[in-house]
Amino acid sequence: MGQRAKLVAANWKMNGNTPDNDRWLRAFRDAPPKCETVVCPPFVYLQQVAAGLAGTAAGVGAQDVSDRALGAWTGEVAAEMLLDSGVTWVILGHSERRASFGHSDAIVAAKMERVVAAGLRPILCVGETLHQREQGLTMAVIAAQLEAVLQRCPAAQLVVGAIAYEPVWAIGTGRTATPAQAQEVHAAIRARIAAHDPHAAAGMRLLYGGSVKPANAAELFSQPDIDGGLIGGASLVAADFLAICAAAAH
Ligand code: PGA
Repeated sequence: MGQRAKLVAANWKMNGNTPDNDRWLRAFRDAPPKCETVVCPPFVYLQQVAAGLAGTAAGVGAQDVSDRALGAWTGEVAAEMLLDSGVTWVILGHSERRASFGHSDAIVAAKMERVVAAGLRPILCVGETLHQREQGLTMAVIAAQLEAVLQRCPAAQLVVGAIAYEPVWAIGTGRTATPAQAQEVHAAIRARIAAHDPHAAAGMRLLYGGSVKPANAAELFSQPDIDGGLIGGASLVAADFLAICAAAAH
């Protein structure tokens, strides 16, 4: 198994405003975390966050990207535009976008091609619903989500980024996967990538997401195949996000 530095990403979702973001950024700069971090605000705040994080080691990430090339696509934001705005990371395939905005596995794979071509670092989200888990379909669902992408982008190209396992039933519900449940799926994801490329699998950071908070982060991050987290609700409070980063840093 390769050496993988822990990574903690903040997914603000559709939250924030200019003064609150400034306060958050000031708190972050006052106590910069010791682990690698990425902050993913809504599109309109990317430049504010990029400016606020300048001089820190933190990266800036978008929450989505267009699957189209530049041109007449009203409402879309291209990978090149993200790069041009100081963005280096992109979340792809978040379950909220899959479930509510029609992002199929094929669309997520097409977005991934744009991200890789632009030299951005992807955070590819995968995960099962509660119904799928209860039907015993967890790994079948995740395998399909992974394979759709791996068939178009080799694992070696994705290893600059990360894969986030986010069980849909744990997102924003306060119900976290147990460390053992998460570890089991992370190990299976790594094995699936290893079937394509063992070297990429050993280096790939696998993040857990779904109701991570300061109280449960350390135990999740101590699992052998959990290399950090994708943090939603708890990332909106700077002190909580920083506490989660501290749990990843030791
Ligand atoms: P949550 O969201 O931490 O609020 O559960 C995680 C995510 O959806 O990325």
